[in-house]
Amino acid sequence: MKFYMPTRLYIDNKAVRDHGAELAALGSRAFIVTGSSSAKNGSLSDVKNALETQGVKYDIFDETEANPSVEQIMIMRDRAVKFGADFVIGIGGGSPLDAAKAAALMAANPDKTGDVLYQKCELRHLPVAAVPTTAGTGSEVTQYSILTRHEKHTKKSISHAVFPVLALDDPGYLQTLPHKTVIDTAVDTLAHLIESRLSKNHAGSIFTAEKGLELWGGCKYKIRDNKLDEQTFLQLMYASVLGGMSIAQTSTSLPHGLSYKLTYELGVAHGRACGMYLGGYVDNYPDKSLAETTVKRLGFNTTAQFKAFLTELLNEKPLDKAFALENARGLMQNKDKLKNHGFELDEEKLLEMENMYIK
Ligand SMILES: [Fe+2]
Repeated sequence: MKFYMPTRLYIDNKAVRDHGAELAALGSRAFIVTGSSSAKNGSLSDVKNALETQGVKYDIFDETEANPSVEQIMIMRDRAVKFGADFVIGIGGGSPLDAAKAAALMAANPDKTGDVLYQKCELRHLPVAAVPTTAGTGSEVTQYSILTRHEKHTKKSISHAVFPVLALDDPGYLQTLPHKTVIDTAVDTLAHLIESRLSKNHAGSIFTAEKGLELWGGCKYKIRDNKLDEQTFLQLMYASVLGGMSIAQTSTSLPHGLSYKLTYELGVAHGRACGMYLGGYVDNYPDKSLAETTVKRLGFNTTAQFKAFLTELLNEKPLDKAFALENARGLMQNKDKLKNHGFELDEEKLLEMENMYIK
């Protein structure tokens, strides 16, 4: 069994304010990668204050797109290099955090083109700090950076591992999230926990995934009914971190593999897209006993009950059959995701997993 997670992590109300000196100690010129919401939830001003207090200069890129593309990473790289950044801070949901990792790689290799992101080779990168403002991706404790590849019409993880050196998780930032975003991001966490626990290579993630599932299960009705309080946000943040730690060991599996086309072509939010396949995946999982034990940790008696809860929570329209079939065929070519499933698979079995959302 191997467990590897080298990120120094704080989960606290006021995590940035209390540990700002550690953030500022990462360098003398910070390149901040974020989106538009970090200015509203207080995270950006907390980071700016921490840097200013310690005399660290910074440049802010606040236009990170949802599901950032390789092309946008190159724009960030040019800005970071011009500024002379010696470390990168990602603030936001999965998109800015993943973009910060890729920008840190490219900024340390200014002579390379974006192709290098998907080449297997040794590359150094600038240190990365992560300040998440959603409880979903767990990207602050993973090595993954998932980018949009327009030339391939999909999203894909880059070939390099970039663990943040420091993660500052303040559940207070979650309080301004719209209910739909809470659902979408929480379901991303749920997919990480389940896909990791059901992965063929689950040895390194059993403890983190099982604890995360119990925490998530304790929040499930509050998520559905929008009865979110400080304690629930803290619990969700723990679950998200445990989900990230879990997939850092195992990677993700079929629901994530199927989700990318849905996000790329239909614009469905990442966690929601994963969730649309999660109920069918668990309900059709070949090891029935493991699937059942897994949903019991969430507080459901059967996999059918779990699937029904998810269907109600997401309340999505069914997809076109031709789209589902094309997606199943595409995934049959995605060896990285298939190897984690560990059971024999064909298009028909994949369609059964997709079944709940086919017209
Ligand atoms: Fe995810």
